[in-house]
Amino acid sequence: MSVEQEKRLVAQYAADMVKDGMRVGLGTGTTVAHLLTALALRRPAVVYVATSPRTHDAASALGLTVDPFDSIDQLDLAIDGADQITPDGWLIKGGGGALTREKIVAASTERFVIIGDSTKLVRELRAPVPVELHPFGLAATLRRLAPTNVRAVALSPDGGVIADYRGEIGEPATLAASLSMTPGVIEHGLFAPELTSEILIAKGAQVHRTNGGTL
Ligand code: A5P
Repeated sequence: MSVEQEKRLVAQYAADMVKDGMRVGLGTGTTVAHLLTALALRRPAVVYVATSPRTHDAASALGLTVDPFDSIDQLDLAIDGADQITPDGWLIKGGGGALTREKIVAASTERFVIIGDSTKLVRELRAPVPVELHPFGLAATLRRLAPTNVRAVALSPDGGVIADYRGEIGEPATLAASLSMTPGVIEHGLFAPELTSEILIAKGAQVHRTNGGTL
């Protein structure tokens, strides 16, 4: 089975978790693109919010109604992809630059479900770690975060600069705390295991499911 087929399989599996009446957060990326297609076929009666303009536009084009995420104070379910997933549930996200909104949605939902193909499983996290930086004082922030380089992409929808930290990761919790405490860092793409409720991984024709535990 190809990676693309694995993405479609795991996305279809996750789409079945969406039930009428839910408030649902939609992640960003190529795996989530398959999720949108599956949801457009099923059409559950739910309220959607999107983690990026890209997802908003793709969902709208498929006929899904996406609400702004400004007055909904809690979601029931959010489904998103990941760039790297360790056996103990640490994630790197933000390959698509949507990490800040993705983390806000992840922190705002009852259940945060990660979907991935088998290439996303890693023994330990490797650089780069995506970061979103405040444009004010950018050069000084980059100096504090060295080695970090600005990605050649547009600003985030919130005006942040997307960059990639390329240094040692070491203990993810230590790096996550250090990045969070660095002035100028709006958000980073290290997602702690506590954020995630379930991880679904397609391996060949099977979907493996964990409850945030060891894969
Ligand atoms: C978007 O910013 C990312 O966090 C994505 O969720 C992640 O990069 C996975 O994307 P794919 O599903 O395209 O691999």
